[in-house]
Amino acid sequence: MTTFVLFGGTGDLAKRKIIPALYSAFLNGRLDKNFAFYGAAREQIGDDEFRKRVSAAIAQYSKADVLNTPEKLDAFLAMTFYTKIDARVDADFAQLKSSIASPDTQSTLFYLATGPDLFVPIVKQLSEHQLVGKLARVVVEKPLGRDATSAREINQALRVYLQENQIYRIDHYLGKEMVQNLLALRFANLFLEPLWNRTWIKDVQISISEQVGVESRGDFYDHTGALRDMVQNHLLQLLSIVAMEPPVNSAPDSIRDEKVKVLHALHKFTPDEVAKKTVRGQYRAGAVDGQAVIGYQNEPGVPAHSRTETFVAIRAEIDNWRWAGVPFYLRTGKRMASRSAEITINFKQIPYSIFGGNQRNLRSNRLVISLQPEESVELFLKAKEPGEGIRLSDVMLNLDFAEASTSRRVEAYERLLLDAMHGDLTLFVRDDELSAAWDYVDPIMTTWQNDAEGLKSYIAGSWGPAASSYLLAQHGSSWGEEF
Ligand code: BG6
Repeated sequence: MTTFVLFGGTGDLAKRKIIPALYSAFLNGRLDKNFAFYGAAREQIGDDEFRKRVSAAIAQYSKADVLNTPEKLDAFLAMTFYTKIDARVDADFAQLKSSIASPDTQSTLFYLATGPDLFVPIVKQLSEHQLVGKLARVVVEKPLGRDATSAREINQALRVYLQENQIYRIDHYLGKEMVQNLLALRFANLFLEPLWNRTWIKDVQISISEQVGVESRGDFYDHTGALRDMVQNHLLQLLSIVAMEPPVNSAPDSIRDEKVKVLHALHKFTPDEVAKKTVRGQYRAGAVDGQAVIGYQNEPGVPAHSRTETFVAIRAEIDNWRWAGVPFYLRTGKRMASRSAEITINFKQIPYSIFGGNQRNLRSNRLVISLQPEESVELFLKAKEPGEGIRLSDVMLNLDFAEASTSRRVEAYERLLLDAMHGDLTLFVRDDELSAAWDYVDPIMTTWQNDAEGLKSYIAGSWGPAASSYLLAQHGSSWGEEF
């Protein structure tokens, strides 16, 4: 029997991601027979009202065909309950305890989809009410903390009540199919590894662009910004997987041991370097996919003179033998021209062309790993164009995973929820990884705070401020869309 308690159960993330993921796991027979799902939040509502909201969330956000599965939905709702919880109120936790039958002998997963300031008060209450026995696990959402110091404080406080292996720090990018495929690509094939270093690679680009703005999260976002929202977690996690050494095996800690070494090796910027190697921007009104959209400062919940960044580009460097001198360009932004998440490995030029001068200027080989919107791996090679003489052009070897396999696609949140239920920590972030990632972004945040002028603006629907292209152009490179 498994009990799943979702703190922040009436919130935005619950509606959009967690409840649809849970429902998909249910439809696919991945939940225990005696599964119980408790939504927990401060609102004073009953089971029936919560079930209504759960059905509405599923109808709006689930990819499953809900209308064709009304019996399944009813069965899911029959195992769904609500418990009113205020982190400060003892009696609420006593009530929760009485609802969960024998917490010592069944596995319980507590998912804290709340702000980080509530993590410790909630876990303390759970512990004081003997709800976090050996079989309990706690998932905490990002962002964990606001900077290196607060993240360490939260981690230390959580460890008072929980073992490290009971804490599942979620980064949903790690649940994306292609992120795991990256591990397979790198460590289950022979031909890439000899090339995967500074001798053959010119630069690496990791770009996550979004078309959406801040949606209904203006207030949260304005206190967060793109560096904390995307770089500290998703982008640095992707970077650590691209750059890590081969782990000794695939056990969670073997992989995490190698990832954390990369994060430690990231070169920390001085204020001068921050000015030269980072770009931050904020979107102005513009048009995305032909639709006019307002500027960031006019978004609901955002102050009119906000200086929060909605775009970041960084030229990161890894100080170790494998990567010294290879720029890792990181980029993310809201309201950009298109939605995509891509890792591009740009190889160096051939040392000498036997085909003559102008053929040399063709773009060098590159490997593009797309996480979304499509899942694919593309290898760009040079080949001869058919016909007389030798004219070279780019050709692409394309592995399209939608075509290559008909297996069911599992969304990131579903995969991670199931992993947490099964006690698999591989795709969750360990405390030392998290601290190392904060240590990297902290000097950038501090320098930005003292440099209000450094924030550039960009038009919604573009690829970000011009300075982002210049960051690469100085080193003879350009972002993928600029070719
Ligand atoms: C979340 C950020 O972690 O990731 C959001 O808080 C962002 O601001 C989202 O929109 C992007 O996730 P995905 O899976 O849609 O690329």
